[in-house]
Amino acid sequence: MSAADSPITGMTSITRSLEALRATFRSRFEGAATEQALRDENAKILGRKGELTAILQQMGAVPANERKAVGELVNALKRDVELAFDDRLGGLAKGRRDAELNAPPFDLTLPGRVPAPLGHAHPISIVRDEIVDVLVSLGFAVHDGPEVEVEENNFGKLGYPPDHPATDMQDTFWVDVRRKANATPAAPVSGAGFALTLLRSHTSNIQVRAMTGHKPPMAFIAPGTVYRRDDDATHSPMFHQIECFLVDRNVTMAHLKGVLAEFAERFFGAGTPVRLRPSYFPFVEPGAEVDVGCPFCKRADGSRAGCSVCKRTGWIEILGCGMIHPTVFESCGVDPEQWTGFAFGMGLERVAVVRYGIPDMRLLFENDPRFLAQF
Ligand code: PHE
Repeated sequence: MSAADSPITGMTSITRSLEALRATFRSRFEGAATEQALRDENAKILGRKGELTAILQQMGAVPANERKAVGELVNALKRDVELAFDDRLGGLAKGRRDAELNAPPFDLTLPGRVPAPLGHAHPISIVRDEIVDVLVSLGFAVHDGPEVEVEENNFGKLGYPPDHPATDMQDTFWVDVRRKANATPAAPVSGAGFALTLLRSHTSNIQVRAMTGHKPPMAFIAPGTVYRRDDDATHSPMFHQIECFLVDRNVTMAHLKGVLAEFAERFFGAGTPVRLRPSYFPFVEPGAEVDVGCPFCKRADGSRAGCSVCKRTGWIEILGCGMIHPTVFESCGVDPEQWTGFAFGMGLERVAVVRYGIPDMRLLFENDPRFLAQF
């Protein structure tokens, strides 16, 4: 019997097991098609109950003088298994990435399975667009302008005296208040001592901009956002107006009332009456507030019973108006001896509230879809 045929020793048994494992582990890893399968396979070899662990448990049977060599074989195999595992893991990840990159591109334009609900215009926009349509059809052109305005255009050139209550801190959002050299600390924030910009408190600034930028005659409307320091059920600090004005020769209040009556007919419905009540605005003379007949308590015969919306009066106020004041013309470089004009400014929230019977104006700005979906 040669040495090679000697009975199987602990060492021979272990080396055979190690060789058997070495011969197969790579193909086992290669055969794992997914990361999970690869990890499972790895656990079968290196795990606590794995094959290599089982082999290690046979170390006791290896003669002491051979243990070092066997140990080295075990460690080398373990390292190779680990390297092969990492290799295959990287290969699988790369495969996934390549598959993703080579797949037909994802079509982002496909419609979703759940149809996206389609929105619609906000009630303020609906009302604004309708009013603009009516006035444009009467011959007015749309004039745009900024919401951050200089004090001169919002108040000064419109004839507001420096201490007018509208310019008060309670009413106006001042954006930039730069004190001029001659102002005393005790001076009110409004007034001659200050250079001011503000969030426009009305769309009447467009009268000034139009008249300083265009030669008369002119007929403009200016829809837009305005700001005042008010916040309750009937006032919002941000709201919307539409300004309408006309400058020409020999304009009278009859022209103003004609436009208003036509507007009321077309917007609120045939037969809607209009009335003017004398009122005061610094930039018109004479000035008036305009009421339309309440659409909610209208009787078949055209009379009005009075209801909670119109506070039992049968009338609802929707705007301020008047004949453009000669001082406004003068401060805008328009000759008041030659030119005359009317102007009115309407609150869009007010009109929307009347049109739709909305109980609290703030609902318009809460953006609750349950409310907005009703328009
Ligand atoms: N600007 C005024 C306001 O906001 C309304 C108005 C416009 C009045 C034009 C008269 C003429 O209250």
